[in-house]
Amino acid sequence: MRIGIFSDPEAVADAAAEYLISVMNTTDHKVLGVATGSTPLPLYERLRAAHEAGTFTLEDAQAFALDEYVGIDPEHPERYRNVLRTELVGADKTGLTDENLHTPNGNAEDPDAAALAYDEEIKTAGGVTLQILGIGADGHIGFNEPAISLVSRTHVDALTAKTRSDNARFFDDDISKVPTHCVTQGLGTIMDAKEVLLLATGENKADAVRELVEGAVSAHWPATVLQMHPKATILVDEAAAAKLELTDFYKERWEAR
Ligand code: GLP
Repeated sequence: MRIGIFSDPEAVADAAAEYLISVMNTTDHKVLGVATGSTPLPLYERLRAAHEAGTFTLEDAQAFALDEYVGIDPEHPERYRNVLRTELVGADKTGLTDENLHTPNGNAEDPDAAALAYDEEIKTAGGVTLQILGIGADGHIGFNEPAISLVSRTHVDALTAKTRSDNARFFDDDISKVPTHCVTQGLGTIMDAKEVLLLATGENKADAVRELVEGAVSAHWPATVLQMHPKATILVDEAAAAKLELTDFYKERWEAR
């Protein structure tokens, strides 16, 4: 893994945007894996600015979301499809079209079948070139909660109480309004991406980042599976990096990259 440590979330977003734009501008397989949560929002702001400046576009790209809530009102602004529309879709955003934004169907009659179909859809598109990831305080990526199979495919799952309480801030601070289930790309699905770019900011992520980078690979901290990924870049701010042991080494190696 390559680890970049930056002073604050804005510097993390600058580095992430620079990296993402250079990958997407040089690949001939424009399939971007997109994430929700608050961490990638400053990155999306920079992608919109680059689109406006004419240096970046998702006009001719496909985007695949990591996950979606099950049973959420299709009009709800926190439905992940709607969040990603607001952030990325349209000529006034990044040029991504609504039809090229793919999200798991959390309102399907048979959510398990919809999950499998989504996994197939990603394969049919030829796989993801670059997957953006955040990380939950309990080490989840997508919505892969502790004890998930390290080779799982897209599936329906329950959310932990911790994740529901963390996400209550998007639902009027009322945990009873947070959906109990999700459909998420599995860890195996995420690992199929050619490159992954994980962003983590804030002291609330320090335990998860310590485990991700220096812990043992374990389903107890699902993000640790990324240690097995051949091309993973982890960009964090000083607060999220606070519990790492080998910080100076990571900084040196990042500078020498
Ligand atoms: C959410 C999403 C994840 C995200 C994580 C962290 O539940 N399903 O994809 O990475 O939690 O969110 P945040 O970036 O808001 O801390």
